[in-house]
Amino acid sequence: MKFILSGNNPLSGSIEVSGAKNAALKMISAAILISGKTELENVPKIIDVENMLLILKSIGGEYSWGGNKVTIDTTNVSKHDLTIDISRKLRGSVVYVGSLLAKFGKVTLPFPGGCNIGKRPIDYHIDLFQNLGISVVEENETYIFEKQGEASSEVTLLGRSVTVTENAILYLTLLKGNTTTVRNCAAEPEIDDLINFLNSAGANIKRIDEETIEVTGVDKLNETSHRVMGDRIEAGTWLVLGLLLGDNLKITGFDPKFLEAPLGIAKGMNGNIEVGSGSITVNKSELVSKDITTGVYPEFPTDLQSPFGLLLTQSTGTATLNETVFNDRFKYLHDLVDMGADIKIESKNKAVITGPRKLSGRIIESADLRAGATMVLAGLIADGTTEVDKAEVIDRGYEKIDDKLSRIGAKIQRES
Ligand code: EPZ
Repeated sequence: MKFILSGNNPLSGSIEVSGAKNAALKMISAAILISGKTELENVPKIIDVENMLLILKSIGGEYSWGGNKVTIDTTNVSKHDLTIDISRKLRGSVVYVGSLLAKFGKVTLPFPGGCNIGKRPIDYHIDLFQNLGISVVEENETYIFEKQGEASSEVTLLGRSVTVTENAILYLTLLKGNTTTVRNCAAEPEIDDLINFLNSAGANIKRIDEETIEVTGVDKLNETSHRVMGDRIEAGTWLVLGLLLGDNLKITGFDPKFLEAPLGIAKGMNGNIEVGSGSITVNKSELVSKDITTGVYPEFPTDLQSPFGLLLTQSTGTATLNETVFNDRFKYLHDLVDMGADIKIESKNKAVITGPRKLSGRIIESADLRAGATMVLAGLIADGTTEVDKAEVIDRGYEKIDDKLSRIGAKIQRES
């Protein structure tokens, strides 16, 4: 599957972001903790969500779609063995560990996969569970987690990891009578959306501060319904597109307060942006370059590093791009150089970008989900035609990207 793109059309009208992938995936796992039905609204119909649901089905869960609403019933979840090959492809599968351990006290997980953006170890997850009284054994390319003792009243994560923080929450939620303070947590808004979802079902989870969460275990969780928050990363992707080609392009369906760092950078680059309560309106701008460094929320998100890397190729001046979260998330920069960008890749974590430079269409492969979306944006501003292969990598995280972009005037064609 591939996208054929040609460019430089002004993009106008309104584009609505879907529900947040990285919130929805964890709520699907959390449904295992809830006796009976769970209703999730505003769920993005993307490959990663479909795969997360297939994993749930493989262990006895049931689900049905109605538009962007998913109704999940985990009454018959009976297995705790996640060794189906989908789990290997989906980083999000790692958060099944917390909920299955809470329910069964044991889970088997194949070595997880995900995008090729660098090593994706799970040593922080293993350390967390060992501190919560769980044994972890490696056996032919799988991990076997098994409850042995009680959870300590305080645990400090080895790193401010999003999914490790979520695994801690999922495991501790049903430890009745146990209160554990989790330190060195991540603060991504999707984590707090998960907390709100679980608390709406009767959990007792409190975020004390950006790095601390306290969980008091309860006896059971009740049926609930929840609307998944809008996807701030999708919104940030369209923010970049609007800065490059927007003609009063309105981006709706998300809360701009969760996009503070990228909006701050874009405004600092002389971006023409109006911020509303549930939307932003963006215009093509005469951009000036600005240094960007990614970090844990509320720092600049690593998932927007690649769209903003493209933006720097079109802004006037020289700036450095520092990727501090993952150690192999610069592959797309080589493709941009092939298209005509002026980029010096100094290391796996630092690049120097000088603009503006005209880009010419090329045939490109999507390295990872966000880099793939960035190459779609590059194809929409490049001279000539651009072909982005492995479109299914982009479909992992962006719902109907070709429909959404065509509706605002982009020339994008999906071809098998
Ligand atoms: C989540 O991944 C997101 N994925 C990623 O989104 C996102 O880029 C990342 O958080 C950072 O915001 C999901 O939520 C499914 P980390 P996660 O654990 O939790 C290292 C996308 O495009 N680390 O916060 O896996 C790790 O290598 C995806 O939507 C360990 O060393 O990221 C990285 O350098 C891409 N050992 C850093 O921590 C561990 O056990 C942060 O990773 C775990 C992580």
